[in-house]
Amino acid sequence: MIVYSEIASIKKRIKSFNKGLTIGFVPTMGALHKGHLSLIKQAVLENDVVVVSIFVNPTQFDKKEDLVNYPNTLENDLSLLKSINCDIVFTPNQNEIYDENIKSENFDFDGLEFQMEGKFRKGHFNGVGTIVKRLFEIVTPTNAYFGEKDFQQVQIINKLVEKHKLPVNIIGCEIYREPDGLAMSSRNVRLTKKQRLAAPFIHKTLLAAKELFGTKNAAIVIDWVENEFKNHPLLKLEYFEIADEKTLKPIKKVISGQKYRAFIAIFADEIRLIDNISL
Ligand code: PAF
Repeated sequence: MIVYSEIASIKKRIKSFNKGLTIGFVPTMGALHKGHLSLIKQAVLENDVVVVSIFVNPTQFDKKEDLVNYPNTLENDLSLLKSINCDIVFTPNQNEIYDENIKSENFDFDGLEFQMEGKFRKGHFNGVGTIVKRLFEIVTPTNAYFGEKDFQQVQIINKLVEKHKLPVNIIGCEIYREPDGLAMSSRNVRLTKKQRLAAPFIHKTLLAAKELFGTKNAAIVIDWVENEFKNHPLLKLEYFEIADEKTLKPIKKVISGQKYRAFIAIFADEIRLIDNISL
């Protein structure tokens, strides 16, 4: 496994590959957990060469404290990556990616960017679009892997690829969960013992909402979920929405043939967790 931190060096290495070689790419912000590893293992199985980037991208954080508190476990990340046969790791610093100009590009994602996470995290998807486009230009992947815990992000990246005609296949991978149902996230390590014990309630509620959606309309399901969290001592609901999987617009009425998903964001103190479920 080779670790590069300079764009010129990783580009040179990638340029040296034979034309027919497939490159699998998993962009990450580090603090790797089993969810990341499952994406990387899939990339190892499906490609000739696998590149993982570790870069905590400042432009996608709407809150400075979230950026500052983002876990940094680089040494452990590198040994995990080595153990699962990752070929190349890219660990640039902020200057390498942004020079002095730490700013996002402005994207038009046909409205996907204004739903859910976009409403609550201003500028977040411009930051994600900026870094992912930049990383794609550097790594030139054949296939790029993204976890569906961030389902809205997967759809945004599909849109980025479509609009900018980027030559890469986007592969959305199923949410990887702890045995008690909590979706794996780098933020989970910041939960206190009590919060960690409470957190599986998020997935449990999504499962119950899915069942209820089989017999009741969306407004009733939304009301029910909001009530479930109203008196919760540790988990504060930010939003629960049922939306069309493609447009991410809130459901009005069920149209047959259309796919729907329930999305949730909660706070445990200042730690923000998201999850979703296909309905
Ligand atoms: O999902 C993430 O970890 C980040 O949003 C990504 C895709 C690595 C871009 O910084």
